[in-house]
Amino acid sequence: MIRRGAGGGIFLLTGAGVSAESGLGTFRDKSGLWTRYDLTEVATPEGFARNPQLVHDFYNARRENALGAAPNAAHHALARLEAEWPGDVLIVTQNVDDLHERAGSRNVLHMHGSLTGALCADCGHRWPAPARMSPADPCPECSLAQTRPDIVWFGEYPYHMETIWQALREAEIFVAIGTSGTVFPAAAFVQDAARAGAHTVELNLERSAGAGDFSDGRYGPATEVVPAWVAEMLG
Ligand code: APR
Ligand code: ZN
Repeated sequence: MIRRGAGGGIFLLTGAGVSAESGLGTFRDKSGLWTRYDLTEVATPEGFARNPQLVHDFYNARRENALGAAPNAAHHALARLEAEWPGDVLIVTQNVDDLHERAGSRNVLHMHGSLTGALCADCGHRWPAPARMSPADPCPECSLAQTRPDIVWFGEYPYHMETIWQALREAEIFVAIGTSGTVFPAAAFVQDAARAGAHTVELNLERSAGAGDFSDGRYGPATEVVPAWVAEMLG
């Protein structure tokens, strides 16, 4: 996934902070989603089994917010980096919005799934999510009413992990952007990359829990620190 090019491969891990200035909430800041919702009710398979309507309502609202949001200067700067960097650039995002893609990034992996996807909990069929989903929606494939948002919940295994582990072994530069570094396995990616010899940078509003694991850090709003860092990289 990341070949060593003239500029070396760059592995970008993004979290909710990269979309905060697009108006999408984070999870653990003072007014974050997990301060207003019980994640065991809306972001676990058990919560979905107990009350699928509550879960669909939660993700319908987040999907509506995401569809109404626009990529910000940080998303655009990362798309510019991918277009102009003389090596591979991979974005592995914990976010479920599609703002990286809408800013023009093409090499994007959603390790926690995406609000744009629907999944059948029975047959595993995937299809583009409608704006609003309901527990009564029949699966287009098996027609059972077991549809769920294609989101990775707590206790479930993140997507694309084989590709991610490989990319961490190959990256020459690892950058974490807008993430609190509190949810695994993403929180340990910086150590994996450093062990493989990558230069590691944190770009965040403030020092995260894992700040000490990075060889460099730039702090401030993503719409300021990310474009500045990209401009420095592209020279
Ligand atoms: N610019 C840069 N960073 C910001 C900004 C901003 N404007 N606003 C907030 N941040 C930073 C916060 O300081 C924090 O470190 O973004 C980080 C957001 O942390 P979280 O809310 O924990 O979000 P994230 O790290 O993406 O959570 C990881 O947890 O609940 C799960 O699946 C969910 O993908 C999510 C995962
Ligand atoms: Zn099905």
